[in-house]
Amino acid sequence: MRVNSGGVKKVAIFGSTGSIGCSTLDVVRQHSDRFKVTVLTANENAELLAQQAKEFQPASVVIKNESKREALQTALSGCSVEVLAGEQAIRDVAAEPCDLTLAAIVGAPGLLPTLNAIKAGNNIALANKETLVCAGDLVMAEARRRGVKILPVDSEHCAVFQCFDPEQRTKIDKVTITASGGPFRDWSKEQIQNAQLEQALKHPSWEMGRKITIDSASLMNKGLELIEAKHLFDLRPDQLDAVVHRQSIIHALVHYCDGSVIAQLANPDMRLPIAYAMAWPERIETPCPPLDLVKLGMMTFEAPCHERFPCLRLAIEAMEVGGNATTVLNAANEEAVSAFLKRKITFMDIPAMVEAALEQIEWSPAQELPQIIDSDRETRLLVQHLISKN
Ligand SMILES: NC(=O)c1ccc[n+]([C@@H]2O[C@H](COP(=O)([O-])OP(=O)(O)OC[C@H]3O[C@@H](n4cnc5c(N)ncnc54)[C@H](OP(=O)(O)O)[C@@H]3O)[C@@H](O)[C@H]2O)c1
Repeated sequence: MRVNSGGVKKVAIFGSTGSIGCSTLDVVRQHSDRFKVTVLTANENAELLAQQAKEFQPASVVIKNESKREALQTALSGCSVEVLAGEQAIRDVAAEPCDLTLAAIVGAPGLLPTLNAIKAGNNIALANKETLVCAGDLVMAEARRRGVKILPVDSEHCAVFQCFDPEQRTKIDKVTITASGGPFRDWSKEQIQNAQLEQALKHPSWEMGRKITIDSASLMNKGLELIEAKHLFDLRPDQLDAVVHRQSIIHALVHYCDGSVIAQLANPDMRLPIAYAMAWPERIETPCPPLDLVKLGMMTFEAPCHERFPCLRLAIEAMEVGGNATTVLNAANEEAVSAFLKRKITFMDIPAMVEAALEQIEWSPAQELPQIIDSDRETRLLVQHLISKN
């Protein structure tokens, strides 16, 4: 693990124009004496990327969409910021040394930059859960080999990280992560069948990017998080479960063999887990409002319904099967969610496409990168074909 020299932490932010990226920059703004941004990247939002670069003065900015390079260059003329473009440029910049890489690209495109950052020995603050769902064994093995710390940014995993005593690992029975239940938690199966895009995009607790908001509505997000937790904390599938907790105050609970259950509580605000990962092993102030238990009054817990939310069941089954099943699950879900966002398929077509991919793509142990990339590609082609026939 790279050890910070005690001064300002150099942070490279991948996906800086997204919901997590912008919240990360809020944390940097509040603690500008602690953090220096060295890299900012985006997919295509050149305008916001330029605005961020002017404020934070990183050494480099990278935009994936090469047709936006000129606009970015023009907006940053006169600034001493290197302007780069293209997918390979994002991967190359990720391989440069820094104290912390904040991985907040959405989806599987986050995998290769994160792997490069790990290979460079950079500690990772990981928001991009799809990286672990797609290639968790490979990523965690590489991190162990390089002595790199993977610090979870997902609020549930940040909570587990705070409650999980690694020295008592054999005394841990189970880990529970919580779910808000999403916008359809009180809807019947028939209502969910007819769910419209605008309804799926209305999350009750969190403001997030569009893909994760749809994943939250289908509860696929909770399934992806169970798989993420399995890899981050080296747990067996039977040691993990999810519970619906509407208030989103308890984020996770760790159950010990003596009956003690240690939980982390906080008002829902992503700046808290981001700040925790960025400052670790220290704690720093965040704008997260203090928790007032009396005002909160009560907390409720319910079992998630696998019948109304088949994506959660499919994710658990894929986690149990292992090998390339979670790579297939992730790729199929990304393609199906993207089609739903374009109104090409219905909400319940998402689990149907994921299930079809899990049934049709051949299972393999898929530990190495070329096989993982093959499974990902094959799945996307299959789901695109299913969508075109729809
Ligand atoms: N939002 C949350 O509260 C939250 C909580 C926990 C975990 N996460 C996880 O954090 C990750 C980011 O979520 P988000 O909500 O911040 O997503 P988002 O708002 O959609 O932002 C995604 C970021 O990635 C960039 N990007 C998209 N596709 C890319 C590609 N192919 N190559 C390079 N960059 C690309 C986007 O650039 P443009 O802006 O140019 O499109 C943007 O900067 C996801 O994996 C999500 O599951 C999010």
